[in-house]
Amino acid sequence: MASLSGRDLLSLSDLTLAELDHLLAFAADLKAGKSRPSFPQKVLGLLFRKASTRTRVSFSVAMYQLGGQVLDLHSGVTQVSRGEPTSDTARVLDRYLDVVAIRTFEQSEIQEFADYAAIPVINALTDLEHPCQILADLLTIQEEFKHLPGLTLAYLGDGNNVAHSLLLGCALVGMNVHIASPAGYEPDPGIVDQARALLGSRGKILITQDPETAVNQAQVLYTDVWASMGQESMADQRIPLFQSYQVNRELLQKASPEAIVLHCLPAHRGEEITHEVIEGPASRVWDQAENRMHAQKALLASVLAP
Ligand code: CP
Ligand code: NVA
Repeated sequence: MASLSGRDLLSLSDLTLAELDHLLAFAADLKAGKSRPSFPQKVLGLLFRKASTRTRVSFSVAMYQLGGQVLDLHSGVTQVSRGEPTSDTARVLDRYLDVVAIRTFEQSEIQEFADYAAIPVINALTDLEHPCQILADLLTIQEEFKHLPGLTLAYLGDGNNVAHSLLLGCALVGMNVHIASPAGYEPDPGIVDQARALLGSRGKILITQDPETAVNQAQVLYTDVWASMGQESMADQRIPLFQSYQVNRELLQKASPEAIVLHCLPAHRGEEITHEVIEGPASRVWDQAENRMHAQKALLASVLAP
């Protein structure tokens, strides 16, 4: 397996199958206490332009548990908010930090940062992708079903950043992906094509407007908010369009009897998921949230490795 030492993770498509499998196995070992890597003196910067609970805290705790330090660099406390160019910020932070996780709007901003910084740059969510989330999601699915290839994940709702990274990550490991979205809210066709190329003949990518078709035979139901960060002003107009994509008891009953329910969180109960389902026996959302920490610890230890 190629080393992840010094590597960026801007998209899930930056990983090969062997690298992703290794990260998931490493994360499982870390969670089980079978491995205790140590990176004293190393500093992680969190350069965030958007709110975050899980990503910020799980990255921070993971880095502390590796013996390193964390600098929380929300854009409001840096010159980023006053318009300092990304290329300048990147070349300066490159001289101080050992690794940086960036949460922003445009994928092109983290790409530009990575072009100017030699340190590993990790995508902590952009409008296009959320790769760290999907590392934790795949770990959670693997814990449940003991294997990944051949399983079917159905994603209901907005064809957003989480849907894009799920398409790429699930396709890479050989899972079928069914996406059900209202017309006009489908995932990016370029990402769908990339996922189809990754999956090849191992399975099927289905893009549909029909939620019942999507959940048929699915072992994993997944949803996310109907209006992502930056789209809050469109939330009210989306609610009626997305109503039939809600993950509720009726839809869950149409999936495989062993189906589990995932949500990256934060959740809007009564919108994309019901209180009954997120708090019910099929929900794995708290394990999924915990796994953010284990997966990102594996990622940090891998990119910081000498
Ligand atoms: N799922 C996720 O990324 O949560 P936060 O926005 O709280 O980091
Ligand atoms: N799609 C959501 C994910 C939040 C973790 C957003 O971008 O706001």
